[in-house]
Amino acid sequence: MRGGAPLRGTRIAALGTYVPPRVLTNADLEKMVDTSNEWILQRTGIHERHIVDDGVATSDLAKEAALRAIDEAGLTPDDMGVIVVGTTTPDMFFPSTACLVQNKIGASNAWGFDVGAACSGFAYALTVGSQLVATGAHEHALVIGADVMSSIIDYEDRATCVLFGDGAGAVVVSPAAEPELGLLDFVHEIDGSGGPALNMPAGGSRNPATHETVDKRMHFVHQDGAAVFKFAVRKMEDVCRRVLERNGLEAGDVDLFVAHQANRRIILSTADRLGLDRSRVVLNIDRFGNTTAATIPLALQDARADGRLKEGDRVLLAAVGAGFTVGAVLLRWAC
Ligand code: UT7
Repeated sequence: MRGGAPLRGTRIAALGTYVPPRVLTNADLEKMVDTSNEWILQRTGIHERHIVDDGVATSDLAKEAALRAIDEAGLTPDDMGVIVVGTTTPDMFFPSTACLVQNKIGASNAWGFDVGAACSGFAYALTVGSQLVATGAHEHALVIGADVMSSIIDYEDRATCVLFGDGAGAVVVSPAAEPELGLLDFVHEIDGSGGPALNMPAGGSRNPATHETVDKRMHFVHQDGAAVFKFAVRKMEDVCRRVLERNGLEAGDVDLFVAHQANRRIILSTADRLGLDRSRVVLNIDRFGNTTAATIPLALQDARADGRLKEGDRVLLAAVGAGFTVGAVLLRWAC
């Protein structure tokens, strides 16, 4: 991967995902807030999403995805040198979700940490984990994107409650046998001026939890949807173009476009602006909604299950999230 001083190539060696069994449909939401199946489908592309039962937290979902990925890699938790978790909904402020997962799966040789990049969490974690393998610091990195968005969603706010779901995805990043296969390049950016457009106002050091913050519903996601929408379309196109151009590639060279699943219209607009054929776009937002850091691995898994993701395919990952955070990762599938 460029962007540092790599000593060796890296690849996604295995992929595992997990979503909780309970499903929340648009029909269910029609009974909870003033919305309709038609509005949700038309404006977002979402039909249903998975939601945890009470008492289930992000590290629980992450553990299941991680064990599946490690098993698929033919490795054991002890083989993991580092655990990087992208999440916006850690079980608690501290310890980090990486610590909780490390203990749950018994990865006794791993250190690790969480990455706070909201919906870009998986892309950022993948880049960081890959760099730690590329430098030779570790043989295998466990990279996880996991969120229980239902824990910070106001189910009385129709503007946000229809959008999000819960889920987890994990990959094992290992050295690439062939340097041209695997993780090739990345472009990441942040634009902190976007903070007010998408955030959870209370619970941190600015507004610690009080009765008042709870009464004012400040522990939930607040979003200026239109502002995020415009930024997402513009920036995803921008970072995708840059990562393709600097690798001498054009949109037609991309076999599969796997974008963060926040809104069907954002993904298709980005693809159209890039000149990417829609047949190369992965969409599974209909079944999972926006699972924040989990959307990209969940989409990779579905593409693979559908036979659309094959060894050697050139894959472009892209995400925009709260912050704003932005990322594009270019890879050739070698799993
Ligand atoms: O993943 C992190 C980043 N997040 C995103 O990428 C989300 C980006 N934004 C979006 O996906 C879209 O902006 C939304 C899906 C959130 C909203 O779609 P929109 O087309 O931008 O709708 P809007 O917010 O402009 O609202 C249009 C109308 C409003 O009614 P009026 O003012 O025109 O009468 C809303 O009150 O739709 C209304 N509305 C709803 N109606 C039925 C908003 N939410 C709902 C709802 N059901 N759930």
